[in-house]
Amino acid sequence: MSGHNRWDKFMIVVTGATGNVGRPLVQALAAAGERVTAVSRGVSGVAVPEGVRHRQGDLAAPESLRPVLNGADVVFLHDGGAGAHLVNPWGILDVAKAGGVRRVVLLSSQGVVTRPQSPSHGGTGRSIEDAIMRSGMDWTVLRPGGFDSNAFAWAETVRAQRTAAAPFADTGLPVIDPADIGEVAAAAIREDGHAGRVYELTGPVLSTPRQRAEAIGDALGEPIRFIEQTRDEARAQMLRFMPEPVVETTLDILGRPTPAEQRISSDVEQVLGRPPRTFAEWAIRNIAAFR
Ligand SMILES: NC(=O)c1ccc[n+]([C@@H]2O[C@H](COP(=O)([O-])OP(=O)(O)OC[C@H]3O[C@@H](n4cnc5c(N)ncnc54)[C@H](OP(=O)(O)O)[C@@H]3O)[C@@H](O)[C@H]2O)c1
Repeated sequence: MSGHNRWDKFMIVVTGATGNVGRPLVQALAAAGERVTAVSRGVSGVAVPEGVRHRQGDLAAPESLRPVLNGADVVFLHDGGAGAHLVNPWGILDVAKAGGVRRVVLLSSQGVVTRPQSPSHGGTGRSIEDAIMRSGMDWTVLRPGGFDSNAFAWAETVRAQRTAAAPFADTGLPVIDPADIGEVAAAAIREDGHAGRVYELTGPVLSTPRQRAEAIGDALGEPIRFIEQTRDEARAQMLRFMPEPVVETTLDILGRPTPAEQRISSDVEQVLGRPPRTFAEWAIRNIAAFR
């Protein structure tokens, strides 16, 4: 599958199209002139680039994807994030195969391998990967570490009082710009040579929550006061929007990262031919959310 002359026959379906990775991926594919169907659960207020078709679909309900996957060539799936336990990968793959899909690119997570005992990451996340690897289709699995965009959790308090609260203030992780993940996904979708590959995706350096808050302050031109939370305080906050097993594993990664979770991977550079973007670049690009 080369990237040329297939306007009439090649169709790419992107699930999670409103997400931190899905949005830049849809943009990259549209900019390259690909025929794209962007899928999200919601119908209203979904902005997609010109020429991109938007359709409703839910990874937790494979039948809802049948109309969009029918006649598609490639599907970009994400693991459902905090809702991964609701995702039925075998059902989705059956519907995809029946629709003629030949290639699948999965947004998974590094924790699938670094946290084998975790019911969410090593359990549910791993079983989604396994289903894709055994699907008989061309597959590529993306395993990123933490996203730069998790800092959006600070947007409200930065806007209101110039504060940012997080646990494990001085523990470094090589967080990644989700736009880089989107570009790697676009390459895996459009180019040959990525089938059967697993990419570990990280940013270029280790950075700590305190340093990331500082970088947002630099981009704003105003200092931000960092408030270090206890693990219990952070857990209480995260439980409002994530299931308990996901929260515990996330806190373990943030507070006691393994050597593999602190390793800087060269995979972004190998695929894209340039180094991954820094957190400071992400902060500058997204500073409107913090003003
Ligand atoms: N955040 C991290 O640090 C991190 C690290 C490693 C891996 N990941 C993985 O990256 C992905 C995105 O992470 P994120 O935290 O940045 O989230 P996000 O981009 O804010 O959300 C992802 C998208 O998922 C869609 N979605 C959720 N449940 C869905 C379902 N049942 N069917 C279809 N679409 C559904 C949502 O769109 P609609 O509501 O519009 O449908 C949303 O746009 C997840 O798969 C996550 O496991 C994240």
